[in-house]
Parts: sequence; structure tokens; C-alpha cells
Amino acid sequence: MTDTKTSATTSTAPAGSKETVRTQIIESLADLRAWRAQTGSLWLKGQKAAKETRGGADSPRIGFVPTMGALHQGHLELVKRAKADCDVVVVSIFVNPFQFAPHEDFGKYPRTFENDLKLLSEMGCDLVFYPSEKEIYPRGKDSIMAVVPPSPLNDTLEGAFRPTFFRGVATVVLKLFNLVQPHVAFFGEKDYQQLQVVKALVEDLDVPVEIVGVPTVRESDGLAMSSRNAYLGAAERTEATSLYKALSLVKTMADAGKDVAEATAAASLLRKEEKGWTLQYLSVCHGKSLAPLEQFQKPYVIVTAAKLGEVRLIDNIVVP
Ligand code: PAF
Repeated sequence: MTDTKTSATTSTAPAGSKETVRTQIIESLADLRAWRAQTGSLWLKGQKAAKETRGGADSPRIGFVPTMGALHQGHLELVKRAKADCDVVVVSIFVNPFQFAPHEDFGKYPRTFENDLKLLSEMGCDLVFYPSEKEIYPRGKDSIMAVVPPSPLNDTLEGAFRPTFFRGVATVVLKLFNLVQPHVAFFGEKDYQQLQVVKALVEDLDVPVEIVGVPTVRESDGLAMSSRNAYLGAAERTEATSLYKALSLVKTMADAGKDVAEATAAASLLRKEEKGWTLQYLSVCHGKSLAPLEQFQKPYVIVTAAKLGEVRLIDNIVVP
């Protein structure tokens, strides 16, 4: 494993401070395959076997958190869940060009690898997979065999505004699953539609990975944590709380027995163009199929996307 790097420190942390472990960094597919071959081979034998042997020396339960870096507390919550449930935790950091449309923010997406690595080491993450674009798309992203999610998962809500997004996500996630071969993978509920796409991916294509959705982590004023919050100016940051307020209002009206049309009139909070908002959607959908609902019937999800100035924000409230 020639170009495998290792990083982070040993056991100098004082008692009570965050755990710091040696986090291995792997950048090439060949090294990842070699690591995986050494790390137990129960993947294809399914979840049950892996759970039964959790902690066994030759077959650790592997947890995986795919990310695009620029890590915040929301990502760290996923790592925490993985640590609690698994023997070995792998995090990938790859800003996937395939899921960005040409006009989107691929070029300026925050890249903060050193800080990400420090945080992951403190969390006790075992391995960071940090491939280049050339490693993941050796013939270029436009020449890869793509996974296209079915409608309506692919085409509604986010898909209506980002038509190639879920194709890019599903393709790279499947590739990462095939490389890492985790028993379980953790995704934030903040990207609710993405979570449903990944669940459908493993179900429809018989990928032996358990998918765990982790509730959204919020700032103290309710704003959902997101790497893109870094784009918000000070005034926008204050205004951004309206997004969750609008969702909460819809939920309150649902609890009061209103129907969806009445409740989504709460979107007026987000129709304040003078405050910089452009509402893209505010919908109430079935919790799994994402089919639009006219009445609040559990399980449902209230989902929204809006631009505040140039910054696109998404959020949701899940009602299981
Ligand atoms: O949610 C993300 O960060 C990305 O969409 C993912 C799942 C890592 C795929 O690139």
C-alpha cells in the first residue's frame, strides 16, 4: 500500500478530552481494496452474520459515512452513530462533480481537508477515503455507467430543480459501497430525498448495505446545519431561520387539523422577496414514495427548498 498516508496523533490527549486515534488516509482504489481485503470478508454474507460476529477479530462490522467534506456537527453526528454501532468506521471525502450541474457551485464548494481530518481523528474515525476525481472517474464522469433513480424519486422536489443530481448521487454512492463494502451506511435526514434514493438503491439493486437515517442537527436558532451555510452573509444568516420557522408552522397547522393547502399557506414566510427569498418548493409528501399529499397522513414529510440571495437552502420535518 505504497501511497497510503496515515495521520493524526497517538495517546497524548488528557483524560476527559476528545478521543484521538490514528486515522488512516487512503487515496487510491487499489489501496482501499487491499485494506478491505485485510479487514474481513463478511460483506457478501449479509447483515445477520456481520451482527452476530460484531467485535470478532476476523470480521469487524464496518460503518460508512459518505461525505463531501466541509464537515460540521451534522456529519459528526453520523460518525458518532457509526462509532456506537460498528467496530470500524470509514468516512469518505469526495466532492462529487457528477452531482453538480454546470451552473452549480462545484468549483467553490468548501474544501477543508485538514480541518475535516482533525475532527475525524478526534471522533475516533478509523479510515478516511480521500480519492481524486481521476480515481473515481478514470474515463471522466461523463463516460461512467450511471444509476438513474426512478420517478418520482428522481424528478420531483430536488430533482425538478437539479435534474441530474440524484443520478450523480446514486452512481457515486453505489461505487463507494462497492469499494468500501460496509455493513451499514449513515445518511443525514437533512437530505431527505437523497436518503430515500439511497434506500431505494440498495433495495432495488440488492446491495447488502443497511441504511440508517440520522435526524437533522440544528443550530440553536433552528437552522439546519449544512456546509453551504458558510456562504451566508451575516444578515442572511439571521434571515435563514425563516426556513425552519415556515416548516414548523406547517407542522403546527397539521397538528391543529388543517389540510395541506391551508397549512402550506405558511410559505408566505418565505415569499418575502424583499428579504431575498425565492421559494422553490414547500410540499407535504408521503414519507417513503415522496408522492404529494393533500391531507396530512403519517408517515409524511414537510420539505422545502428556497434560495436566500444566491444561497440555496433545503430543510424538512419528518413525521414518522
Ligand atoms: O450528501 C452528500 O454529502 C453527498 O450527496 C454524498 C452522499 C456524499 C454523495 O456524494
